[in-house]
Amino acid sequence: MPSDGVKTLLRLAGVQVAYGAIEAVKGVDLELFAGEMVCLIGANGAGKTTTLNAIAGTLPLSGGSISYHEEDLARLPAHKRLRRGIALVPEGRGIFTRLTVEENLRMGAYIRKDADGVAADMARVFDMLPRIHERLHQVAGTLSGGEQQMLAIGRALLSRPRLLLLDEPSMGLAPLVVEKIFEVVQSVRQEGVSILLVEQNANLALEFAQRGYVMESGRIMLSGSGRELLANPAVRAAYLGEAS
Ligand SMILES: Nc1ncnc2c1ncn2[C@@H]1O[C@H](COP(=O)(O)OP(=O)(O)OP(=O)(O)O)[C@@H](O)[C@H]1O
Ligand SMILES: [Mg+2]
Repeated sequence: MPSDGVKTLLRLAGVQVAYGAIEAVKGVDLELFAGEMVCLIGANGAGKTTTLNAIAGTLPLSGGSISYHEEDLARLPAHKRLRRGIALVPEGRGIFTRLTVEENLRMGAYIRKDADGVAADMARVFDMLPRIHERLHQVAGTLSGGEQQMLAIGRALLSRPRLLLLDEPSMGLAPLVVEKIFEVVQSVRQEGVSILLVEQNANLALEFAQRGYVMESGRIMLSGSGRELLANPAVRAAYLGEAS
């Protein structure tokens, strides 16, 4: 639990999202405090991606509300949420495969007019992601999976986010590469960016995050500190591959 004076950055209250007649998210309550890394875990189809997209503004709510910095997001389209500092690194990374690494990074800064600030953030991203720096003129589609994930994160950082939404950054990557990605995410957090991380790799996510939520069939079934959830027998049985 955060100490007094720590601000709620993001609050979901009774959030519902439907695809036509199919209710994918059925009343989710979730809170994220400034500076925190929180993870959202759950099986395939639980509604994790849908929840992140609702926060980013690419899907409308059918019920409930989302507030960010005490502001109701209902009427803010996705591009305005991005300006407010909410950046999504989507499932599957969403990079532009025919553009170069540098062009992809610049797309991340398209909302900004402060050329000096963008240049400074570009330098910061190069420091953090030297492999990306070395491949600046390479066509993004020819990067390895791990490099593409790093590029997707770097691109999001160029919007200078305050809240980074990461949808399964470890997907399809070898353990060593996943470790590297998590180190990068950790250093982003240490710079003061709050993080909401969706992961199927529950073990790793709960180790890195301060708190976690467990989602099942569109609902939050459990929440607690990363440590509590790691020790919870039901979580261990369902998500950490242990027999109960
Ligand atoms: N565009 C869509 N149209 C209709 N139904 C959808 C659509 N996208 C997702 N769904 C459904 O909504 C539910 C939640 O999907 P979602 O992608 O949010 O799950 P998830 O937790 O991210 O799963 P995964 O771990 O496989 O990525 C699923 O039942 C899915 O079939
Ligand atoms: Mg998903």
